[in-house]
Amino acid sequence: MDPTLPEDLQLLQRSVRSFVEEQLVPRAEEIETSDRIPRDVIDAMAGMGLFGIGFREEVGGQGFGKLGYCVAVEQLARANASLWNVIGGSTGLCGTAIDIGGPDELRTRYLPDLLTAKRIGAYGLSEPGAGSDAGRLKTTARRDGDAYLIDGAKTFITNAPIADVFTVFATLDRGAGSKGITAFVVERETPGLEVGPNDEKMGLHGSTTAQLYFHEMRVPAAQRIGADGEGFKIALRTLDLGRLGLAAHAVGAAQRLLEASIEHAKARVQFGKPIGAHQAIQWMLADAATGIHAARLMVHDTASRADRGERVTDRAAMTKLFATELLGRVADSAVQIHGGMGYMRELWIERAYRDARIYRIYEGTSEIQRVVIAAGLLADA
Ligand code: CAA
Repeated sequence: MDPTLPEDLQLLQRSVRSFVEEQLVPRAEEIETSDRIPRDVIDAMAGMGLFGIGFREEVGGQGFGKLGYCVAVEQLARANASLWNVIGGSTGLCGTAIDIGGPDELRTRYLPDLLTAKRIGAYGLSEPGAGSDAGRLKTTARRDGDAYLIDGAKTFITNAPIADVFTVFATLDRGAGSKGITAFVVERETPGLEVGPNDEKMGLHGSTTAQLYFHEMRVPAAQRIGADGEGFKIALRTLDLGRLGLAAHAVGAAQRLLEASIEHAKARVQFGKPIGAHQAIQWMLADAATGIHAARLMVHDTASRADRGERVTDRAAMTKLFATELLGRVADSAVQIHGGMGYMRELWIERAYRDARIYRIYEGTSEIQRVVIAAGLLADA
């Protein structure tokens, strides 16, 4: 446990750790092979408060702030990566966008249910032609009396097959670029909304992903998040916090891989001694531990700044870049240290290696994080 954390967060860290080890880790294989997360697992995570941990109590959250959220998410990473995906997509992104943009009527209508997983949310930003260049999305919204008619499609939408509520970003005026983008909350039963089949992925089995199609989908004006044209800023402010959570998850995933690698390095004997006695293995362990320590400090620092109300765009990008690139290296060395066994489905290391690959892509690729960081540096110059 981390003695530098305030006492309530140390307690949170301990209780989430035991919950994950006792209730989630034993379900890991079932989730991987069935490619679904059983409802009782979602309910158990909701019972632990994991869907609302970083949100204010006024909106139905647990009130632990972003630092508390990151502390919990790091522990959650000890089980399947897909478990956090449900939370990250539902409240980390969908719920956060509603909370950031408002108005209060939408916060009151949706957040209490999202933060307790009574309803699951999804975040509809990416499109077939607008991934990294999210500002050029093509889904359109046009005003029609007291509603908007939305047409278009979204791609790679985490949770879409199981979601009850979607935040959807659409443009009112493509000529206005990102300033034409407006955000909406859309309920699954809305006529004109079609959810595609679950996509098959390299990893993150259990986490569902699908396309969304909108055919003259009528969304009441009261379902608009923020004002017309504010959608892109709401999307990026949401992603600042999403990237921080992802970084915390990467730290937890890397930590667990390091622990398994240390254990294996002590137990596996080759050339008459444990492989951990060979310098080649020691260097891999030392590099992993050093990177994890630095990444964790970055996560805690960025989260604390967010809790103090600072804008963390650049810091969150640095933290996501550093932590997710680190996880890629730690996952690779964990497979290397485990040798042939690391490549076998029999051991969870193989799953963790596949799961680790997406961190450098979703919620903004490593290349986009560098773009964000550099933009901040040059703007200050
Ligand atoms: N917060 C608030 N406002 C912001 C902002 C932020 N973090 N970043 C930029 N803005 C503002 C700018 O100040 C600017 O406003 P003004 O015009 O008023 O000055 C406006 O937004 C446009 O900014 P840019 O000109 O910098 O925008 P851009 O079009 O060049 O794009 C980008 C910037 C950083 C590349 C952005 O498009 C981006 O982050 N792309 C990656 C998208 C992404 O992460 N997608 C992930 C999808 S979600 C996902 O992955 C979920 C999942 O699966 C679970």
